[in-house]
Amino acid sequence: MKYNSFLKLILFGFICAFMATSCVKEGPVGPAGLDGKDGKDGINGRDGVDGKVTCQVCHSGTNMEQKQREFAMSIHSSGAIAVDYAGGRASCARCHSHEGFTQFSVFGSVAGDITNPSAWKCNTCHGLHKSFEGDDYALRKIDPVVPVAAANGVMDLKGNNNLCGTCHQSRSAEPGTAAPGTNFTLTVRTYPHYSAQSNILFGNGLSEIPGSVAYPAKGTSTHLTMAGGSCTGCHMGTFSARQGGHTFIPSLKSCNDCHGGTPITNYNYGGVQKDTQEKLDQLRDKLLAIGVITKTTVDGVDSYAPKPGSVPMVQAQAVYNYFGIKYDRSLGVHNPKYVKAILANTIDALK
Ligand code: HEC
Ligand code: HEC
Ligand code: HEC
Ligand code: HEC
Ligand code: HEC
Ligand code: HEC
Repeated sequence: MKYNSFLKLILFGFICAFMATSCVKEGPVGPAGLDGKDGKDGINGRDGVDGKVTCQVCHSGTNMEQKQREFAMSIHSSGAIAVDYAGGRASCARCHSHEGFTQFSVFGSVAGDITNPSAWKCNTCHGLHKSFEGDDYALRKIDPVVPVAAANGVMDLKGNNNLCGTCHQSRSAEPGTAAPGTNFTLTVRTYPHYSAQSNILFGNGLSEIPGSVAYPAKGTSTHLTMAGGSCTGCHMGTFSARQGGHTFIPSLKSCNDCHGGTPITNYNYGGVQKDTQEKLDQLRDKLLAIGVITKTTVDGVDSYAPKPGSVPMVQAQAVYNYFGIKYDRSLGVHNPKYVKAILANTIDALK
């Protein structure tokens, strides 16, 4: 029955289109124009569906269940630490719980603390369809990312990827922009948060300390701009080998499909992750030696934090960059050129 009315919908669309063309007044024949938009169907006020696409593309027998299987592998579906700790707090919930994000995407803000926050579900990210066309995944947020730290500027990560960027972005501007001056007062939270992935991919928002390595222009990295790139290109490629799709785990298949050449078997393409880790360790040791970060060891595990106090600006910026890149956790993969420039110039500036 449903399928039947869907067919009628398409048929009606064709009839409308036919009638529209046959009513045009005759005149000299002009050059062929671009294809027009799909006509209104006129039955129930909803736009007709593009003839090439059917609802079945996505809503087929097992497709939704397959997504469930994949999603069960994602930390999003457990919420792990993030929901318990911050999912209920009004100031954190827009990124830390299902309830918070849905409120934020509908109303633009979270009304107040949430007493029973929960982890991501399908309709945390998928809301209501708008056009019902092939690229309409009914995602709640696809407009360019409005930054939490206004100084970072709007970032367009390309369509569906802006959903990811709404949460996976910095929460503060870098010290030189946040409070310009010769000195800066470090707090235990002088870093972009644990979520600067979008900023790094975009090449925007870490401290661009002047130095010998040039910074690439914002929004130009190939991993962002190439077709099949950006967040979904690497993290949601066709599900295979327990990666990609709705696991959100970066898939080596995506890397290899795009790079060509000898297939890589881990993410350390061209030695970039190893190199980034080495530079990060060097920077950390410098910051420890200067005394602007602290080290704590619990059960044999070392952790580091900014040491509160007033310090020269460049040292505060170095602290910010260290934690920004560390917590990004791709070890340079998100934007190899930007990360390389930040680390080289930051380390040089501390000499
Ligand atoms: C590009 C993929 C895609 C296409 C094409 C698509 N849908 Fe969906 N649809 C989804 C996703 C993803 C969801 C959210 C799944 C969930 O919440 O479990 C959804 C949800 C829905 C829902 C649940 C109600 C709601 O919240 O919107 C309905 C009804 C629906 N789609 C109808 C349709 C119809 C009718 C068509 C064809 C005209 C269609 N969809 C085409 C992907 C698609
Ligand atoms: C509503 C906010 C929100 C949205 C939207 C969101 N994330 Fe996340 N994401 C989080 C939070 C918070 C965590 C940490 C969860 C935890 O540790 O409990 C996380 C964890 C992750 C992880 C690591 C854990 C895992 O499951 O592998 C990856 C990778 C990730 N997100 C990628 C993405 C991508 C890609 C998108 C877009 C398709 C996206 N996220 C959309 C908030 C979000
Ligand atoms: C703009 C979105 C956003 C806001 C607002 C936000 N967070 Fe987060 N936070 C994230 C994302 C995304 C992650 C996960 C990053 C990842 O997995 O790499 C995260 C991770 C964390 C983690 C690390 C959890 C873990 O998996 O180890 C803590 C702790 C945290 N946030 C605390 C907070 C607190 C407290 C607040 C409110 C004061 C807050 N966050 C507000 C986006 C946000
Ligand atoms: C963290 C956000 C997020 C969550 C949670 C999520 N999705 Fe999606 N989903 C996306 C994004 C982003 C896309 C578009 C991917 C792209 O652009 O390639 C998508 C695409 C889809 C599609 C269309 C693509 C296809 O291959 O058929 C379906 C169907 C779908 N999701 C169903 C689900 C279901 C079912 C769930 C719950 C089990 C779910 N999604 C949970 C972000 C999410
Ligand atoms: C070029 C491919 C690529 C692109 C584009 C990309 N990522 Fe990643 N991402 C990776 C790789 C590789 C890792 C490292 C995973 C690892 O080492 O386990 C990673 C790590 C992460 C992590 C930490 C996950 C963890 O388990 O430690 C998060 C969160 C994340 N990416 C989110 C995003 C978001 C959000 C975007 C878009 C703004 C994005 N990524 C774009 C490849 C990519
Ligand atoms: C959409 C295509 C595309 C995808 C998908 C992609 N890459 Fe790339 N990547 C490129 C291109 C093109 C270059 C070279 C140009 C450049 O560096 O800007 C590159 C360069 C790199 C570099 C820098 C190499 C160097 O020696 O400087 C690393 C590291 C990298 N990719 C890792 C990955 C990983 C890991 C994945 C999968 C998780 C991945 N890429 C997915 C297109 C892609």
